[in-house]
Amino acid sequence: MRTIEWKDGTVVTIDQTRLPNTVEFLNIRNCEELSLAIEEMKLRGAPLIGVAAAYGLALTAHHSEAREKEELLRELENTADMLRRTRPTAVNLFWAVNQVLKKAGEVEGDVKALAEVVVKEAQKMADEDVEINRGIGEHGSELIDDGDVILTHCNAGSLASVDYGTALGVVRTAWRQGKRIKVIATETRPKLQGTRLTAFELKRDGVPVTLITDSTVGYAMSKGLVKKVLVGADRIVQDAVINKIGTYTIAVLAHQHGIPFYVAAPTSTFDLTHSSKEITIEERSPEEITTFSSQRIAPNGVSVLNPAFDITPLMYVSAIICETGILPTTKLKKAIR
Ligand code: MRU
Repeated sequence: MRTIEWKDGTVVTIDQTRLPNTVEFLNIRNCEELSLAIEEMKLRGAPLIGVAAAYGLALTAHHSEAREKEELLRELENTADMLRRTRPTAVNLFWAVNQVLKKAGEVEGDVKALAEVVVKEAQKMADEDVEINRGIGEHGSELIDDGDVILTHCNAGSLASVDYGTALGVVRTAWRQGKRIKVIATETRPKLQGTRLTAFELKRDGVPVTLITDSTVGYAMSKGLVKKVLVGADRIVQDAVINKIGTYTIAVLAHQHGIPFYVAAPTSTFDLTHSSKEITIEERSPEEITTFSSQRIAPNGVSVLNPAFDITPLMYVSAIICETGILPTTKLKKAIR
């Protein structure tokens, strides 16, 4: 099944905080529930939270009792504000909300027609996400050789999208083409997306995967165990790629060891009107670090720095793989000028 689906006025998704031990589906009925699920990372990953936000607007439209189009438009604006407050860094969420609102603003029919357009637009976005990821997979697999060992960070797989994945979409396509590849997945502190989600997805697909702690990356590279790095992105700005905390460290290490560092992301992740200095990096709760399995492990009162993402300057990125092709970062810089 897809990671997110629209079923008779509800949004059905997997609670990712419970994976891999428990596969529990959530039936989300309104935008409040959806916003909370995004905040609590029951669903996460840039493309997925983009589509989820579009579905959030669809929930409001579908269940609205508004009699006039203007009233529903106001409800949609309020829903959009709520969604925008959930997670600040992944641009896909803002992109998706703006896309749906734009379509809504263009509707000429009555309130019913408006509600239908919003639901349709969210569903279209979900379908397109799968196609886009397959495109990323096709292009990206050109960079993958038989026998490669690919290091990936966090989870940029089907669980981070509607289906197929971005970085893991490339891995999937290369694997299906018969390339004998192996993956090294970092555990990804502190929420363990690599341990719980990437390892789960790759095991399910039969792709050989080895799990390492985040702090093992340097050792693995120095021993020649990594041939390529492939990660996703939450936002690609004029001067940098913003992705899961730890990505920058991996990129600098890859540079030091002469290992290609590739980023796979849809064009909806590009935000070329901003530079990294202008972006809010989400700061998450200290408890994600001071506790483990709900047990306190740090001394009381210790101060904590817990950013969810970091900033990798483009000089460390060999190329960006998107649905339209492989983009060398030199080309990206020219496109901005
Ligand atoms: O905090 P998360 O789990 O939402 O962070 C996810 C990532 O950083 C992914 O690498 C990124 O969203 C790309 S997913 C295709």
